[in-house]
Amino acid sequence: MMHFRGLLTLVMSLLAVRPVVADNTTIINPSANFGTWEGWGTSLAWWAKAFGTQTALADIFFTRNTVTLNGHVLPGLGLSVIRYNAGASSTNKDPDGDSMVVSPDIKPSRQIDAYWLDWTNTNASSSSWSWTADANQRNMMQLAVARGANLVELFSNSPVWWMCYNLNPSGSTSGATDNLESWNYDQHAVYLATIASWAATHWGVTFTSVEAFNEPSATYWVGPTGTQEGCHFDVSTMSSVIPLLRSELTARGLTNTIVAASDEETYDLAVSTFGALTTTARGDIGRVNVHGYQYGGGRRDTLFADVSAAGKKLWNSEYGEGDGTGAQLVSNLILDFVWLHPTAWVYWQVLDVSGWGLITADNDAGTIGAPSQKYFVLAQFARHIRPGMRLIDGGSDYTVSAYDASAKKLVIVAVNWNAAQILNFDLSKFTTPGVNGALVQRWATQIGTSGMQYTAFNDTFISGTKFWSNFAQNVIMTFEVSNVVI
Ligand SMILES: *[C@@H]1O[C@H](CO)[C@@H](O)[C@H](O)[C@H]1NC(C)=O
Ligand SMILES: *[C@@H]1O[C@H](CO)[C@@H](O)[C@H](O)[C@H]1NC(C)=O
Ligand SMILES: *[C@@H]1O[C@H](CO)[C@@H](O)[C@H](O)[C@H]1NC(C)=O
Repeated sequence: MMHFRGLLTLVMSLLAVRPVVADNTTIINPSANFGTWEGWGTSLAWWAKAFGTQTALADIFFTRNTVTLNGHVLPGLGLSVIRYNAGASSTNKDPDGDSMVVSPDIKPSRQIDAYWLDWTNTNASSSSWSWTADANQRNMMQLAVARGANLVELFSNSPVWWMCYNLNPSGSTSGATDNLESWNYDQHAVYLATIASWAATHWGVTFTSVEAFNEPSATYWVGPTGTQEGCHFDVSTMSSVIPLLRSELTARGLTNTIVAASDEETYDLAVSTFGALTTTARGDIGRVNVHGYQYGGGRRDTLFADVSAAGKKLWNSEYGEGDGTGAQLVSNLILDFVWLHPTAWVYWQVLDVSGWGLITADNDAGTIGAPSQKYFVLAQFARHIRPGMRLIDGGSDYTVSAYDASAKKLVIVAVNWNAAQILNFDLSKFTTPGVNGALVQRWATQIGTSGMQYTAFNDTFISGTKFWSNFAQNVIMTFEVSNVVI
């Protein structure tokens, strides 16, 4: 069906006849500059603990090769940002004879092994540390780095259990109070800085950034009922820990490794937390990380304004939901591009339960199922908007655009939520809007439960200073235009 429409578009393009159907035009605005794209990514953590030895998965997520998985032919996503989760769990007793308190509802796959076993020695070479822990997640990190992932963040969901008041790395007993013992603020920083230092000297991994908190203002990290590692931090505690982390990194020579904070759940919490940190703590942050769990709500624009006024970078460092059609992902990602302007965007778990995973998987059973349409939807963005490109303005709420100055290539990603229609892309604001008659390559994915999966077409051509394509409903397309000069 779509192929037929594609042919129709080709014929119309060649004749340069404007189709007689309702259409819309967006004017791509090259004068905007929302920064240089740093990359797409995923957090490792649970899926990498479960499947960290599978090189085919590394090829799928961290290259742009074509890879076959269980009979599915997948275009590699080329992710280059990874977040490695510093674990908080271990089975040893502490020097007082106490053991970790385990929430009855936590799945083993969500317990990440800690490297620091007890407080008796900060020396990483001593028997207080176990560097063989967490082998699978670490292996996937190294497979990713070997394939070109170049931005690696170390993040913590909870301090190691023995640093916590209730010895439970799923959170304090109420969830509303700090669980990191007040005398262990520096120990939490020492833990993360020591992993970063060890990674540089033993694993060949240089962390770009270290993040000590995960959704710290939340009150849902409740130890007794928790299903994952998590910990509440008051903003005042964050203000204490951030400078300690900065100085522990610096003390180990990791002056180029930045501190990221605070990975709040929503845009609005990120605004209030960033605003409430002490001046010293704010000064020690190199980047603001925010999660996308406010979806269509919240003041992305305020966060962007505050963070850019402070001269910091901004990432959407965690996003996920259970909509395998890709509709929510497209909708929220475009809102991020239009209002938040992050320079990197990180999906939470690329393998996960149906809907949440780009590829369905069961971490505890160790089984991998099928990719969802959401996988291919993300490919429409991640394979084309690449590190180093300048983020410009797509000119509408259904279009995003980026420009590769060295290749003189313009990338446009657009979605049509309406009934089938022609969408026109006006390039008249460019100094050189491509070459009249030249091919515009396009790729298309059907948002939904079936249909086109990143299907490529060579049927679209520049006509003067514009080009157009016929979009079925709920189709997302990516276009690459050559020989464009801003
Ligand atoms: C396109 O044009 C129609 C008619 O003017 C309008 O209702 C619709 O919202 C426009 N936008 C998109 C994205 O289709
Ligand atoms: C750390 O521990 C190792 C192994 O016990 C030892 O060789 C080294 O000297 C210690 N380093 C410091 C700074 O104490
Ligand atoms: C489109 O053309 C490009 C450049 O000639 C080529 O590399 C690509 O394979 C073609 N794609 C399709 C779907 O024909």
